[in-house]
Amino acid sequence: MHGPILILGACGQIGTELTLALRERFGNNRVIASDIREGSELLMSSGPFELLDATQYEAMEKMAVKYNIEEAYLMAAMLSAKAEKFPDRAWHLNINSLFNLLNLARVKKVKKIFWPSSIAVFGPKTPKDCTPQTTIMDPTTVYGISKQTGERWCSYYFEKHGVDIRSLRYPGLISWRTPPGGGTTDYAIDIFHNAIRGKEYTCFLKEDTKLPMMYMDDAIRATISIMECDPHKIRERSSYNIAAMSFTPTELAQTIEGHIPDFKIKYKPDFRQAIADSWPNSIDDSMAREDWGWQYHYDLKKTTEEMLVNLRS
Ligand code: SER
Repeated sequence: MHGPILILGACGQIGTELTLALRERFGNNRVIASDIREGSELLMSSGPFELLDATQYEAMEKMAVKYNIEEAYLMAAMLSAKAEKFPDRAWHLNINSLFNLLNLARVKKVKKIFWPSSIAVFGPKTPKDCTPQTTIMDPTTVYGISKQTGERWCSYYFEKHGVDIRSLRYPGLISWRTPPGGGTTDYAIDIFHNAIRGKEYTCFLKEDTKLPMMYMDDAIRATISIMECDPHKIRERSSYNIAAMSFTPTELAQTIEGHIPDFKIKYKPDFRQAIADSWPNSIDDSMAREDWGWQYHYDLKKTTEEMLVNLRS
């Protein structure tokens, strides 16, 4: 039987779906959700919840001991666009929560940990198309710097302390259940909410800005699958590139128009354009495919269908 699992930042966009997926897989009571505030009705009613601030080491350690936690997932973070407005808070949250998790695993209070990285680790000098696993990384955002630094610490704790850390560089994640907050790729979610309400959407990125994206179900499957992988197969202990689709706002709008013919979009780029311009167009995820059999299921067409059906109901 699987030991108890702790999710930190369980009420956010990824945390909510991950908690629900793990509860379905391992049983509701084996997955402890935690966050600094309560989450959705479904999340709160489907299993245990604890108020917990991931920047507080003692509280985290207490929780791990209380539930005899076997593995922990850290999903609390401040995303790219918001982090540019609150650099100190973003650095504090993104880095200290990771240190706490790594230290918890170092003293063997948890056996295995997951921490998400991002395509934001890349920057203007990184090759833009089919960005390799190992390449130039010159992030220009506070968020990207925190993720790149975090990757180095993950690798360090694995090498020096034998910490069983697993990590993925998520692309922009598209989902309907819980809204995202403060990301640069969030346009690809906002657009659906406007489209189903029959509203014109004003996009904060330029029409031809191509970014790597993924449907949430694929991201959750990737996360569970790297956590279940035999440790000897994991050659990369910083973080793995993973990919599904890449598209521009125009391509997404056209796909939505296939379902909602009078949908209209206009473009009014803001400060998030510079962030998007510094990120890759597409990602080479061959190492994840080779090491633990990664394969996406949702392309742009399927993602659009799923988003429209689920948001409408
Ligand atoms: N989706 C995130 C963001 O836009 C990137 O990891 O900030």
